[in-house]
Amino acid sequence: MRLEQVLFSQGFGARRECRALIAGGRVTFDGVPLDDPDAQVDPVGKSFAVDGCAWPYFEKAVIAMNKPAGYECSTKPKFHPGVLTLLPPPLRVRNVQPVGRLDEDTTGLLILTDDGPLQHRLIHPKRHVKKVYRVTLKHAADEGICARLLAGVMLADENELVAADGAELTGETELMLTISTGKYHQVKRMVAAAGNRVERLQRVAFGRFSLPADLPEGKWMWLSGPSEILG
Ligand code: URA
Repeated sequence: MRLEQVLFSQGFGARRECRALIAGGRVTFDGVPLDDPDAQVDPVGKSFAVDGCAWPYFEKAVIAMNKPAGYECSTKPKFHPGVLTLLPPPLRVRNVQPVGRLDEDTTGLLILTDDGPLQHRLIHPKRHVKKVYRVTLKHAADEGICARLLAGVMLADENELVAADGAELTGETELMLTISTGKYHQVKRMVAAAGNRVERLQRVAFGRFSLPADLPEGKWMWLSGPSEILG
C-alpha cells in the first residue's frame, strides 16, 4: 500500500492533504521518517506517527468509549454535545458511528465503529449480543423485581412480554440487568414496568467486552477487532 493511501484510509484528509503531510516531513512509519507519499509499506499490525502523535493502523476502527452524562449519541445532537466531539478528527473523518444509542444521561460503555457489517451484527436483535447495565434504583427493592424482569414485563407499544436475560440485585437500590435487545429506553421502561424507577444507568459490558476500570469517563480506546466483543 502506498503511504499516501495509508494516511487517507485512516482519516487524515483528502489525498492531496495526505501527500502534503508526508512530503512536508511530518510523518514516520514504523518509527522511520518517510517523505515519499508513494513509498510502498505494509501497514497491518504497524503504527505511524503524524507530527509525533502515534496512530495504530486498523483497516476498520473498533473503539470503546466511556460515555459521560450530558452527551447525545445522535449524529445530529439537539440539546447537548454529541459523543463524536470526544473523538479526534481522523476518527470523525473515517465516519466512526456509535453502535446503538445510550440516553444523554446514561454513562458507560459505548462501542463505535466505521465497519458497517459489524454495526449490523452488533445491533441485530437475532444476534442476541448481551449488554449489561448497572442500574441505580429510586426505591429500595427486593428479589421480586428480578423475578418480574426475568419473567418479562409488558411495555407500551409492544405486543409481547419483554424479558431480561439476567437480573441480579447487588444492593438495596442497585441491580445488574442483562438484555440482548435494544428497544427505545428499554432499561428505564422495563424497570418502570416492574414497579420501580431508574435513578442512574451505566452500561458496563457489551458482548464479551467489559468497560475497563481504568478508562476514565470521556476517554476512548482502540479494540483489536470484533472478536473482543463477539468472541
Ligand atoms: N436503556 C435505557 O433506558 N437507556 C439507555 O441509555 C440504554 C438502555
